[in-house]
Amino acid sequence: MSENQHEIRLTVNGTDHDVAVPARRLLSDALRHDLGFTGTHVGCEHGVCGACTVLVDGQPMRSCLMFAVSAAGHDITTVEGLARPDGELGPVQQAFRECHGLQCGFCTPGFLTTITAGIAENPEPTEDEARDMIAGNLCRCTGYQNIVKAVCRAAELARDDRAPEGGAA
Ligand code: FES
Ligand code: FES
Repeated sequence: MSENQHEIRLTVNGTDHDVAVPARRLLSDALRHDLGFTGTHVGCEHGVCGACTVLVDGQPMRSCLMFAVSAAGHDITTVEGLARPDGELGPVQQAFRECHGLQCGFCTPGFLTTITAGIAENPEPTEDEARDMIAGNLCRCTGYQNIVKAVCRAAELARDDRAPEGGAA
């Protein structure tokens, strides 16, 4: 291996992947090109659009601003990891489908990961809080209204998931 390559282990969606990367390989490029997680989209490559957002230890991070070597040893979740274990859509995905929260879909993986973290932190967002939650993600198509609706619906679905069977006492 060349001196400039670093052997690292990236844990993506619960599975470990050993990969050799140059020190300055971006996490977005490692995910897409080295590991095949092409659901992580790259738009601006400058930390502006949010399309490349993934979760690192549950926190939304712009993977175009992070080196892959910095992500070693942390839990990374990409859009491919948001479905339920049985393959059904997760709450945020389901809400986007119900609320028509996407058109071309380019921005969507970044919204889905951002909102997943957002509703974990704030399980009952108001509409204003939903807008704040997605303020760092850009969408050219939708006008955002349906995405805001999807945030509130996703929070509702996630709350239902957490509710004990048989409903609240
Ligand atoms: S591609 Fe990373 S923020 Fe735009
Ligand atoms: S759905 Fe097209 S950029 Fe958001």
